[in-house]
Amino acid sequence: MSPQIINTGLYPVDNLSSADARTWVAQLRARLEHDGSCTLPNFVTAQALAKMVRQAHSIAHLAYPGPTEVSPYFFNYRLGNACDVPATHPLRRKGRRNLAQVAADLIPPEFLLSQLYRSDLMLDFLAAITGKPVYRNQDPYQSLNISFMNQGGCQQWHFDSGTMVTTLLLQEPEAGGIFEYAPAIRSEANENFDAVQAVLDDNSDRVRQNHLQAGTLSLFRGHYSLHRVTEVEGSRQRVQAILGYSTRPGLIGNKESSILHYGPRVAEIEAKTPLYPE
Ligand SMILES: [Fe+2]
Repeated sequence: MSPQIINTGLYPVDNLSSADARTWVAQLRARLEHDGSCTLPNFVTAQALAKMVRQAHSIAHLAYPGPTEVSPYFFNYRLGNACDVPATHPLRRKGRRNLAQVAADLIPPEFLLSQLYRSDLMLDFLAAITGKPVYRNQDPYQSLNISFMNQGGCQQWHFDSGTMVTTLLLQEPEAGGIFEYAPAIRSEANENFDAVQAVLDDNSDRVRQNHLQAGTLSLFRGHYSLHRVTEVEGSRQRVQAILGYSTRPGLIGNKESSILHYGPRVAEIEAKTPLYPE
């Protein structure tokens, strides 16, 4: 029998209309507004977490390392070389990326993580916090990922494409692997390149840290908040699930980006039986 996944004793996501839940959701929304992030330790039960970790490790061999130097703006691979801006400009900067990810199409639907991602409880919970309908990303490869970082693993400063990407830390490293972010550094109206450049130059007072424990769900405005993971120290892997949600319906990523991040097999699939819509 599958264990209960969400720790509803701590977090009443199954009863959002109760007075207690409404107060709690309002607090989360305020924290997200104020801090650009909020974390929910022990969001999944200990039994579910243990099983999720076992299941993640069982498909770790399917993880693809992807690019090792990446722009904060994933989709600007060509722009980074071609645009008429100085080499110090954020559009032309690349940071070191050292991790491997299992793409969504390789994560079995019966895995607890898939069940959590596909649960309407998650959509309803995130919608209650944002005050808007929330949708699962429709990208066949990017919607749900498991990321593995070995010793020395890290992720460069970047923005997410989705507006409500959430992460669930499955296994924490012995040290390092800290989530750092600059909340609300850009908006739809303003890319704020000067402030982004200051962060990339390690010369900004906007940067905050979240020290996450395994089992913590992290809500985060990664589309507007620049973020990274610092270098993992020690031999225990950092294992994290990335759950792609968005307040925009039908969000689909870029095929070129998926080939880069998940490997040439994506190009082969797309040539034969495409998962991306025409
Ligand atoms: Fe991200």
